[in-house]
Amino acid sequence: MFNWTGYINITKNKLPRQLLVRALEYTRNREVALDLGAGALNESKYLLKSAFKKVIAVDNEEDSNLISEINHRAFSFEKTTIEDYSFLDDYYDLINAQFVLPFVEKEKMDVVISNIKNSLKKEGIFVGQFFGIKDSWSSRADVYVYTEEKVKDLLSGLDILYFQEEEKDGRTAMDEEKHWHIFHFIAKKLI
Ligand SMILES: C[S@@+](CC[C@H](N)C(=O)[O-])C[C@H]1O[C@@H](n2cnc3c(N)ncnc32)[C@H](O)[C@@H]1O
Repeated sequence: MFNWTGYINITKNKLPRQLLVRALEYTRNREVALDLGAGALNESKYLLKSAFKKVIAVDNEEDSNLISEINHRAFSFEKTTIEDYSFLDDYYDLINAQFVLPFVEKEKMDVVISNIKNSLKKEGIFVGQFFGIKDSWSSRADVYVYTEEKVKDLLSGLDILYFQEEEKDGRTAMDEEKHWHIFHFIAKKLI
């Protein structure tokens, strides 16, 4: 079991993930952004600063202090799993999923991805990561890994603007050793 409360505590006030910063280069419309697995809300804050008119953060853990610190009328938080979240059709200009998709139950991933695709507006951007099969967490029961082929299959129908495979030995935010195998992506809904 992951200690997400500890993770959120350690990652408070970090800079936004660079992949999200890059993804914003492609967002022409900035009405509504959805931040899935929002954690310490660093990316939610960045989206608010980047002039989105509405930013919805979703996470199955909540830190009420962090949420109330934001104190912005464009911001809302929903405590739920991504699997249970009620995505609205044709609604979001950006769906940000930084380092959370590997924790979405594999048997529900096809439905989650279909919800994400339906809920993006035309030209909406989906950005995030999947873990690959060489990731050292691949044997964990609560982490789900994918082949590159399956990742591309999950993203099918979207225009892949950026795709990078990363493999390295490193450490986690909780300072544990880990072999990382990550597929980073930015994709756009065409129609
Ligand atoms: C690795 S952290 C990433 C947090 C943040 N996006 C970042 O990049 O630092 C994963 C976050 O997703 C949340 N989470 C994990 N599985 C989830 C799920 N199935 N549904 C919603 N949130 C989930 C955890 O509570 C945690 O805050």
